[in-house]
Amino acid sequence: MKIHDFLNRKQQGKKISMLTCYDYWTACILNKTEVDCLLVGDSLAMVVHGYDSTVHATVDMMATHIQAVRRGAPDKFIVGDMPFLSCSKGLGPAMDAVQALMQAGASAVKIEGADHQVDIIRHIVEAGVPVMGHIGLTPQSVHALGGHKVQGKSEEKAKALCQAANRLADAGCFSLVMECVPMKLASAISHNLSIPVIGIGAGPGVDGQVLVLQDLIGADTEFKPRFLRHYAQCGTLLEQVVNQYHQDVTDVSFPALSESYQ
Ligand code: KIV
Repeated sequence: MKIHDFLNRKQQGKKISMLTCYDYWTACILNKTEVDCLLVGDSLAMVVHGYDSTVHATVDMMATHIQAVRRGAPDKFIVGDMPFLSCSKGLGPAMDAVQALMQAGASAVKIEGADHQVDIIRHIVEAGVPVMGHIGLTPQSVHALGGHKVQGKSEEKAKALCQAANRLADAGCFSLVMECVPMKLASAISHNLSIPVIGIGAGPGVDGQVLVLQDLIGADTEFKPRFLRHYAQCGTLLEQVVNQYHQDVTDVSFPALSESYQ
């Protein structure tokens, strides 16, 4: 997938698939799949580093994970998340962060919000870096939003979301993520927008879908928000495999003679 394919896909009515990826060995596997693009999301602060929100992601952290993913997935379009406040300290620090993520191997950066970020997005796009927007539930603002809640439920908020989407398209975003938005609203915004909308918790009427890989494979079977489908129960499988290994070691059935050097 190349940058122009995003728009082509929307025009052809072919959906775009995106998944998060944070490390080398997972990237090697995803590089062999047909998934369209990878997102090194700042959700890695929670999923990989165990923090309670994405505000703990830093530019260095993002760049390190992007480098690992690029080494494992040389063929994929990789979007790197601009972390918390990286677009709120002025143009210089924002451009330094963009430079770090792009030099780490990203094909594009993703930026949450469509307020003061819009001027910076315009500048980044003019500098030749593709930008993906992100509106609706923007986890970096979770404290201001009062939690992980569905966005755009009132008429006023729905209108504000439409306007935000238009501002991002006008600023030159090639695509945007829309998170946790009622499906009718998401579909209407996507219909009226020239750029593809990639949804998470935004229903089927948008131009593509994104999920956190660990959520999709059921790493934590108890984490099951409405929008998530568990395609496997990998958390449970891994527990079983590790317990089997432990048992084999303790009862000396591993290693067998055939697994030992003579
Ligand atoms: O950081 C992330 O994983 C994301 C997705 C949930 C869209 O931004």
